[in-house]
Amino acid sequence: MKNIGIGLAGFGTVGAGVYENLERHRDLIAERSGYVFDVRRIVVRNPQKTRDVVAPAALFSNRWQDLLEDSEIKVVVELMGGTSEAYDLTVAAIKSGRIVVTGNKALLAERGAEIFAMACEHKVPVFFEAAVAGGIPIIQSLRDAFVGNRIESVHGILNGTSNYILTRMQEAGLDYPEALAEAVKLGYAEADPTLDINGWDAGHKAIILAALAYGFWVDPATIRVEGIDRVSAADIHFAKSLGYCIKLLGSIRENSGMVEVGVAPTLIPLGNVLASVNGVFNAVAVRGDLVGDSLFYGRGAGRGPTSTSVIGDLVEAAHGLNAARQTYGFASHSLYGSSRPASEIVGSYYLRLSVDDKPGVLARIAGVLGEAGIGISSVVQPESIAGVETPLVLMIHEATYGAMCAAIAKISALNCVKGEPLLFNVEALS
Ligand SMILES: NC(=O)c1ccc[n+]([C@@H]2O[C@H](COP(=O)([O-])OP(=O)(O)OC[C@H]3O[C@@H](n4cnc5c(N)ncnc54)[C@H](OP(=O)(O)O)[C@@H]3O)[C@@H](O)[C@H]2O)c1
Repeated sequence: MKNIGIGLAGFGTVGAGVYENLERHRDLIAERSGYVFDVRRIVVRNPQKTRDVVAPAALFSNRWQDLLEDSEIKVVVELMGGTSEAYDLTVAAIKSGRIVVTGNKALLAERGAEIFAMACEHKVPVFFEAAVAGGIPIIQSLRDAFVGNRIESVHGILNGTSNYILTRMQEAGLDYPEALAEAVKLGYAEADPTLDINGWDAGHKAIILAALAYGFWVDPATIRVEGIDRVSAADIHFAKSLGYCIKLLGSIRENSGMVEVGVAPTLIPLGNVLASVNGVFNAVAVRGDLVGDSLFYGRGAGRGPTSTSVIGDLVEAAHGLNAARQTYGFASHSLYGSSRPASEIVGSYYLRLSVDDKPGVLARIAGVLGEAGIGISSVVQPESIAGVETPLVLMIHEATYGAMCAAIAKISALNCVKGEPLLFNVEALS
């Protein structure tokens, strides 16, 4: 057995889980991998805090620099979150030749290009299986198992909190605030669930998946990311009557030599396998030119699933310590061109309005869309429902997002349209 010294930065949900499960499965991991992982230091904000997972008090510190001052620490595990100290630690660890294992999706989505350029320069791998979809081994699959495929698309339900809320709205008819309150009460949402709800947790993960599929880091400022906070029980109901459910979907694809990335509430056919991914579960559907369709399903967060991925990365890191490597966790290349700005991405849409109950209203709205060259594939005028008076639902087959936004600005200025129009994506996923 070979002992590998590791330094743990962060002892929260994931960090404490890694410590606890390295202890619990010490023999199993050693027998299977040939390595024993020794946690030599644990960095937290408050070393005095009482914790539900117990580790020797002497291991705790509130200085991340301590991890790098111990020459026996060969792998730094960054599970603090955030993009400032986590960045400083990651960079310092790489420069000092330590392998980095991280679950920090925000850091990689925002500064992945820079971090991996540094990793290559210093010949130090950075592993990040826990950063996307918790316990689902999607990073390793895209990076290694599918290395021989051109990836055509990746679609993912990437945020368990949003999926739980949408599932409860769909199954129990709850409205958004009730479902969110329930998720917070059950511990499925943070006390501050902003990044879950505004779509950016999934947005960061979509950027990482796109990087693995297409070899470069898409600028977060150029992608459309929308959360679920405008989805209402009425929309869930209208979508269902049209044969769809609503999911917060990350869509990543190559289209005519350009890479398209986005996250938005999306109507998907009720018969599609992703429609049955419910509750806190995540799923990622990958289409490769050789492998065809593959589906990865599992828990996207929590102690057990996320520490599973970190421990897998630790073993990978330990192998890395004992072998010369040519790649360092991510290989950049330019085989796919650049990314398409959100406004130029062509999609299908669900446009829901609340309108005056008068003749001629539909003609005025259709006129605005027609002037913009946007065709309507179907129109439904459902009965009024709590929260939406005189609804009008238009299904749009093909238009750029930019053209839709411009047309919606004109539609919302019409005096026959009440409130803010609502636009969700529609994905056939065929
Ligand atoms: N939670 C999940 O299921 C999950 C899933 C996938 C990925 N991730 C990612 O994993 C990372 C950790 O998430 P988490 O949920 O475990 O977070 P968490 O429960 O909030 O724990 C964060 C830990 O980091 C410590 N910390 C934070 N800032 C620090 C700083 N500046 N200096 C020193 N210590 C600091 C905290 O110390 P104190 O304990 O003293 O406050 C705490 O122990 C994040 O990047 C997150 O996005 C989480």
